[in-house]
Amino acid sequence: RATARQQRVASPSPKPFATLQSLELPSKDWSPKPVAFQKPLQLISFSYTPERQLVFDNSALRFWVEPPRNADLSYRYAHWIKRREEKGRLDGLLKAISEDACKDARSRAHVVCWRGILCKILIAPYEDRNGWTLNVMMVNNRLYFEEHITEEQLAEVDGMPEKNRQQTYYGYSFESWCTSTRPRRRGDKAEWGGDVDTNVQWCSVVKGKMGESRILIGGEVDCVRDTYTGQPDTFVELKTSMSIRPGNASDELRFEKKLLKFYFQSFLLGVPEIMVGFRDFKGHLKTLQSFKTLEIPRMVRGKPNSWDPNLCLAWGEKFLGQVREWMVEGTTSTTKSGVFVGRLIFTPGHGVAFKELDSVEIEEVQAGEERVGFLPSWYISQGDG
Ligand code: A3P
Ligand code: MG
Ligand code: MG
Repeated sequence: RATARQQRVASPSPKPFATLQSLELPSKDWSPKPVAFQKPLQLISFSYTPERQLVFDNSALRFWVEPPRNADLSYRYAHWIKRREEKGRLDGLLKAISEDACKDARSRAHVVCWRGILCKILIAPYEDRNGWTLNVMMVNNRLYFEEHITEEQLAEVDGMPEKNRQQTYYGYSFESWCTSTRPRRRGDKAEWGGDVDTNVQWCSVVKGKMGESRILIGGEVDCVRDTYTGQPDTFVELKTSMSIRPGNASDELRFEKKLLKFYFQSFLLGVPEIMVGFRDFKGHLKTLQSFKTLEIPRMVRGKPNSWDPNLCLAWGEKFLGQVREWMVEGTTSTTKSGVFVGRLIFTPGHGVAFKELDSVEIEEVQAGEERVGFLPSWYISQGDG
């Protein structure tokens, strides 16, 4: 295999697709040896206000409350305050890990990204529909990943058909039916938790270890049960899903597949409980079921089309190792332009291709902002721990 340096000399820009380096997905019957995953520890939490300001407090933290039976998940749809679509920037997370509470962990971390990115990476072996594109940088031996979202993709979300938008709202209104700004008291009746404002989010930043990689990730947490302890042990992830018709094998199959995403999304932040609201096709809440995150793999084991979380973790390790190799090659051989930005393109069912961004693509990533690659200049100038 040619090294990144050899390729740069050999191929004129833009590079033909054939010069991309790649990593193939594992076969689904791969049974790698168990990969250890250290229980995540929260370092800091923060909130986004209705004005979309990041504040280091728990003002956006919500508490679980029992929703009313048959709650209408379209309720107050017209009052939904929508967050403007954003690029996949790391800025909020970087701000958080620049706080004193995180600096130690940061200086030891191998990987920094939003929880959603790591989740997508890990479940890639089982993803057969949606591809993704990431930008990656390495600073002081730490890998930073951001999702590469183009202006066209942002516009596409803005132009989402009304029907899909309605469905998306079901998830948010479920959150509102199930949460309150204060813990539930005896005798409280189930009620609407307030109109949906998707600017408002409560986020947890945790450190963890996957195999040999120390990871630093942040992600949204929907609510906590009864008390907030400062750790993930009372976190609850809320999800909606279509009711499973009794005895309907394809409904069950579909749900078990979804459980893979539910599982890793929660597992990575150490969220111990997932509360699923099952709804009918008209958007009425029918039943609730609580799942213990750590028990989910056992529930699907041995079923047709089941998945193996250890395969995902082992793939994740392999992926991180390979990306690190590519980035070390590229970063050490970059001199003139100063910044090396990698791009990873995942094709479902196949694998991941890697390439170096050229100067035009780097400019596109910077989007006229004060950045080094995709990392904000203020972050780079800290010297990164
Ligand atoms: P559901 O998960 O109940 O469908 P999250 O579950 O991650 O807390 O996200 C809350 C809601 O945001 C989701 O509710 C869904 O409505 C919407 N949402 C999140 N990710 C989405 C995606 N990739 N596409 C469409 N909607 C999404
Ligand atoms: Mg959420
Ligand atoms: Mg949720």
